[in-house]
Amino acid sequence: MKIAVAREADPAEPRVAGTPETVKKLKALGAEVAVARGAGLASGIPDAEFEAAGASIGEDVTQDADVVLKVRRPAAAELAKYKKGALVIAIMDPYGNEAALKAMADAGVVAFAMELMPRITRAQSMDVLSSQANLAGYRAVIDAAEEYGRALPMMMTAAGTVPAAKVFIMGVGVAGLQAIATARRLGAIVTATDVRPATKEQVESLGAKFLAVEDEEFKNAQTAGGYAKEMSKEYQAKQAALVAEHVKKQDIVITTALIPGRPAPKLISAAMVASMRPGSVIIDLAVERGGNVEGAKPGEVALVGSVKIVGHLNVAGRLPASASALYAKNLLTFLDTMIDKKEKKLAINWDDEIVKGTLLTRDGAIVHPNFQPKTAA
Ligand code: NAI
Repeated sequence: MKIAVAREADPAEPRVAGTPETVKKLKALGAEVAVARGAGLASGIPDAEFEAAGASIGEDVTQDADVVLKVRRPAAAELAKYKKGALVIAIMDPYGNEAALKAMADAGVVAFAMELMPRITRAQSMDVLSSQANLAGYRAVIDAAEEYGRALPMMMTAAGTVPAAKVFIMGVGVAGLQAIATARRLGAIVTATDVRPATKEQVESLGAKFLAVEDEEFKNAQTAGGYAKEMSKEYQAKQAALVAEHVKKQDIVITTALIPGRPAPKLISAAMVASMRPGSVIIDLAVERGGNVEGAKPGEVALVGSVKIVGHLNVAGRLPASASALYAKNLLTFLDTMIDKKEKKLAINWDDEIVKGTLLTRDGAIVHPNFQPKTAA
């Protein structure tokens, strides 16, 4: 059983899919592990540390690998270097990328999308959305603090009082909750909103204030899977009016709102941005999925009037060492379920719901029900 930790081809991706800790554990499961030269450098892991953990270091480590571990979906040039039938496990960004999925099917690899992991208790330790969103939520507050020209906590000094910053978090999933906790630790006055009613209690338990239009639609706004639904036009209008009044008085707004498989909901309009005080900062964590904020530019800090709209990409990757450590652990835990410990070889239970939920391609075809090529009805 040969496992390869590939180097990321995208120069904007500093994370790596293995760490010395996970290499050791994979070796203990009976695998040979090869790590691509320099794969861990941007996450602060030199080749020597992988070697000390028992990995071999090489250039083309994927060529004879039974399993390829990656952060991002492999491009065509990478796929060409994989063995037919190899398992490829990564964050595949499958929605709207059907051509890329077909390329993986055509290459004959068995591709798993970690972000499709079912949200069941057993799979919590394999949930890359959670592990990465948690770090992104933390980093969003740190980035906001850096861009904001004032202090976050209240400071009473001999030279006068610095008021506490008002921070508003929109979207209280994993990222939003960590953003609330981080902003509170830094001494800000924190409010938050979400369309899922279950979040109200979570917000309050972190010492922040909850703000939302709490009507009948709101009471039913959570799917069985625990995700947000797309809200009606009427609800969105009522929510926007409430938010507009609130945003005017905020110093920092952090938006994290996502709906799986759909573009991010627009929550902050240009008029709301214009209503904010000079020097205010908005962080749009949804910028890669279309953005929650009008005027946010992917990969840029946009100055709109005198408000900064921060659109950093790959925010978890701005903490590459932490992000890689957690991501690699998620992969290890998932892979562990597919290894026969006695025989020390791959033994995949294709009926397991975590396998079925994440499996994209197998035997030359796209097999995941959500990504079937459209057939004429
Ligand atoms: P997400 O990243 O899909 O979305 C972020 C937040 O945006 C969500 O809270 C969502 O309700 C909110 N949102 C969507 N549209 C909005 C709008 N128009 N206005 C305001 N907010 C809006 O969500 P994430 O972080 O993946 O978490 C979703 C849920 O799944 C949470 O309840 C979380 O606790 C749960 N979860 C369960 C796990 C498990 O059981 N294994 C693991 C991780 C999360």
